[in-house]
Amino acid sequence: MTHHAPIIAPSILSADFARLGEEVRAIDEAGADWIHVDVMDGHFVPNLTIGPLVVRALRPTTRKFMDCHLMIESPERYVEAFADAGADGITVHAEACAHLHRNLQQIASRRHHGGGSVSVGVSLNPHAPVDSIFSVLDLCDLVLLMTVNPGFGGQAFIPQVRPKIRALRQEIVARGLATRIQVDGGVSESNVHEVAADGADNYVAGSAVFKSKSHPGDYAGAIAAIRASATAAYRA
Ligand code: DX5
Ligand code: ZN
Repeated sequence: MTHHAPIIAPSILSADFARLGEEVRAIDEAGADWIHVDVMDGHFVPNLTIGPLVVRALRPTTRKFMDCHLMIESPERYVEAFADAGADGITVHAEACAHLHRNLQQIASRRHHGGGSVSVGVSLNPHAPVDSIFSVLDLCDLVLLMTVNPGFGGQAFIPQVRPKIRALRQEIVARGLATRIQVDGGVSESNVHEVAADGADNYVAGSAVFKSKSHPGDYAGAIAAIRASATAAYRA
């Protein structure tokens, strides 16, 4: 199994929104690789969160990769706004795009604040067959496999997604691609080794960082524990 070094992407959905800038600085200093930003529109998912203004406001607080997960209908309407706000990567849901191929090309054509291309991500809900995105895999830097139904932090990991991770890893290896597999939802130090063994190499963790039971208030400890568990699976 070929793996990239693990990327740990704490989701600020579980942060203290009254102190969001401080929280982003804290996870940056605690060793987060990416900052995962959950964008919800109250249509595609039954919750409302944050928009490009907040990404713009947070941009000066960190130099880390700002990973914007758009859980919104017709995300092509907002790709430019998020890119302009400073997103390093934009992930759209396949289920939310009538013209997915075009939408992914639209993301790739955007330059981010550092001058490079915005990184292209596609996401699938837990029920969606993974081969439904094989036709656009070449366009993607990242595939986000939801391991909960999107909308809220703190939900239980759905183990039925695991065979999708394995099938996707197999396809990526067979094609010689460098696509990353991100898992999002219910991921913690107690199950990350399983998804790492399946072939995921990018781990979103909201409650497991911000509301960790084993490392309460210790973001560095929580991130390190997730990283250690993932890395151990790579060596196994
Ligand atoms: C769910 C979001 C996730 C969420 C994960 O809709 O996409 O990023 O914040 O939270 P946990 O890690 O608590 O499941
Ligand atoms: Zn997310």
